[in-house]
Amino acid sequence: MKFQFVTKTKLLLLLLCTHLALNISAQTNNAIDTKVNTLLAKMTLEEKIGQMNQYNGFWEVTGPTPKEGNAKEKYDHLKKGMVGAVLNVKGVENVRKLQEIVVNETRLGIPLLFGFDVIHGHKTLFPIPLASSCSWDLEAIEKSSRIAAIEASAVGINWTFAPMVDITRDARWGRVMEGAGEDPYLGSKIGAAQIKGFQGTDFSSNSSIIACVKHFAGYGFAEAGRDYNTVDVGTSTLYNIILPPFKAAVEADVKTVMNSFNVLNGIPATGNKFLQRDILKGKWNFKGFVVSDWGSGYEMIDHGYAKNLKQAAELAANAGSDMDMESYSYVRHLKELVEAGKVDIAVIDDAVKRILRIKYELGLFDNPYKYCDAKREKELIYHADHIAASLDMAKKSIVLLKNENNLLPLVKTQKNIAVIGALANDKNSPLGSWRIGSDDNTAISVLEGLKNIGANITYAKGAELITAPTSFPEEVKVNETDKSEFTAAIKLAKKSDVVIMVLGEHGFQSGEGRSRTKLDLPGVQQQLLEAIYKVNKNIVLVLMNGRPLAITWANEHIPVIVEAWQLGSQTGNAIASTLFGDNNPSAKITMSFPRSVGQVPIYYNHYNTGRPGPKSEVFWSHYGDEINQPLYPFGYGLSYSKFEYSNLKIDDSNPQKVKIFVTIKNTSTIAGEEIAQLYIHQKIASIVRPVKELKGFSKVKINAGETKELEFDLTDKELGFYNNEGNFVVEAGAFDVMVGTSSEQGLVGVFNKK
Ligand code: BGC
Repeated sequence: MKFQFVTKTKLLLLLLCTHLALNISAQTNNAIDTKVNTLLAKMTLEEKIGQMNQYNGFWEVTGPTPKEGNAKEKYDHLKKGMVGAVLNVKGVENVRKLQEIVVNETRLGIPLLFGFDVIHGHKTLFPIPLASSCSWDLEAIEKSSRIAAIEASAVGINWTFAPMVDITRDARWGRVMEGAGEDPYLGSKIGAAQIKGFQGTDFSSNSSIIACVKHFAGYGFAEAGRDYNTVDVGTSTLYNIILPPFKAAVEADVKTVMNSFNVLNGIPATGNKFLQRDILKGKWNFKGFVVSDWGSGYEMIDHGYAKNLKQAAELAANAGSDMDMESYSYVRHLKELVEAGKVDIAVIDDAVKRILRIKYELGLFDNPYKYCDAKREKELIYHADHIAASLDMAKKSIVLLKNENNLLPLVKTQKNIAVIGALANDKNSPLGSWRIGSDDNTAISVLEGLKNIGANITYAKGAELITAPTSFPEEVKVNETDKSEFTAAIKLAKKSDVVIMVLGEHGFQSGEGRSRTKLDLPGVQQQLLEAIYKVNKNIVLVLMNGRPLAITWANEHIPVIVEAWQLGSQTGNAIASTLFGDNNPSAKITMSFPRSVGQVPIYYNHYNTGRPGPKSEVFWSHYGDEINQPLYPFGYGLSYSKFEYSNLKIDDSNPQKVKIFVTIKNTSTIAGEEIAQLYIHQKIASIVRPVKELKGFSKVKINAGETKELEFDLTDKELGFYNNEGNFVVEAGAFDVMVGTSSEQGLVGVFNKK
């Protein structure tokens, strides 16, 4: 009785608070709308268009003059109120200077937004997003983004161009490093966590910055993995794979969306009404604004969609691209287009309102210098708490791919350990590709990490990985010929008990514009690996790379493989603690690893074919020279613990909530974390369904010998799909379900959705 009373009182209080909170937020919204409308009424057409214009900065402190583009014109425009946002300006002093110009010298004093690519940390670097996605740890991912926002906001930035939620199935594409892999369900959850981290819970705080989900849409499906290439996808893939993470981002209240460079089924994304007006601002009711990608407005000319910059401006504005990044198209042509009736003034007003609303929400009108606190800048950059969080995220991102005979973890008393590979001694490459806000050569290298942990090691480089460049952004030149340092490495390996080989890609081999046709170990590294293997088979291969690699030979021969990606500032410490057992690996890959590049695109949630096989004769869907399956499937990753799944139970009595139960036992003597995954497959539907689709996961810590029971609930949200008209439908019928340790291994059952 008493319990009931307390619960009821609590419930009433909760309802009251929710009601009050909703009321307050409605009032705030109304108040902001009023302010936006009042300001808009005062603005000239030129000033309105100015808000829709974003320039790249790299500004000088004394001046300030931009170092790039038409510097004089940009500066003039700034003073006339014809710039709404800038990007790539950082440092409190620089930001303040620019803000002072617009606030004090322009007629209306509308503050600027300061955008920046804060992708995996700002100064303190976290693992590349593909790596941290392997943690499946939404809390840790949110925390990483929160810290990135704290550091970015401390140097004056109030808008990040992240997260990238492009689903990626093609490891040749360099930007796979920037996303969360191949699955839209997991990708949606991770994107939402990042947005929550960046934007925080309260925009009045000076550590909340606005997030920008990108690239809308389809950019991750560039043909043959070549960056900026054509995208041509069917409706089912568009609605069920590409769009869901963007929709989830809108539901997570992301404030901005960036469109993309690619054409989608013949229409450039920047000039794509269907994407921006019908779906994003129409069906999804997105209230924020859309920014173009860098120069994607004028790129519509090369695509053969706009005849000149003027038409590019017309097409982009009418299609719903609210702010132009570095195309100069709006600032040069929108005024005459409005005057000629080609672009309705309502289009301009709508775009400007969206932009102003966010500036009000951020509190920039109350305090344009909100993000200009030199004290914060000094105190917060590389703060010890941030470094600790980066180490934690790095440990959570390392995937153990193979551990034959439990060679790992190594014991600290182990003598005669050789370390081989240029990447072991690299303090720059582990920082990854997208980190223009940070400082070069600041990663803890693997060698440093091993020394920090007290490991007894001797190092030989073996071979240089790259010959150029040492800094961003020129093309990488890989060492394809020089094997002069092999001999010393072989000699060392011969007399060692264990060899840790650190091989992979340089940090600048992935990222924007960095596609590859091969997925092997670049340069002479494969030869080095084989040469060392000849003299010592006790190899622990530590991979550092920005994309899945086809390491079939290594998988066949090398007893231990650790996927360490590019882990950011604390790389070496995270790797060392994993190799020596202070960290028990728990991550699972979020992109399938192919056996050879010819299998790409390869992904777990493919459709069945009419000839799935396997068959003994030839006429079924297969390759003559390779099996269909990936080398390592989506969701795969080992631990030093051993987990056993049992007792799959299904309760489908309530069609609104099908319940699935499973028991997991840690049968080892070490506590560990397991990422249990649930996949479904609707057997017959009006549109064929993938062979498996992730619809639930749970990361659980299980002590040695302990057993835990997990419950997964499947509602219409998980069981439905988008039809070819883009409508979400739920169809009754039979489903296969699998719960297990990867997309290929688990307990299976069947249920009926009534
Ligand atoms: C990239 C975007 C990025 C923008 C601004 C473009 O080249 O595609 O992802 O946010 O530049 O730096």
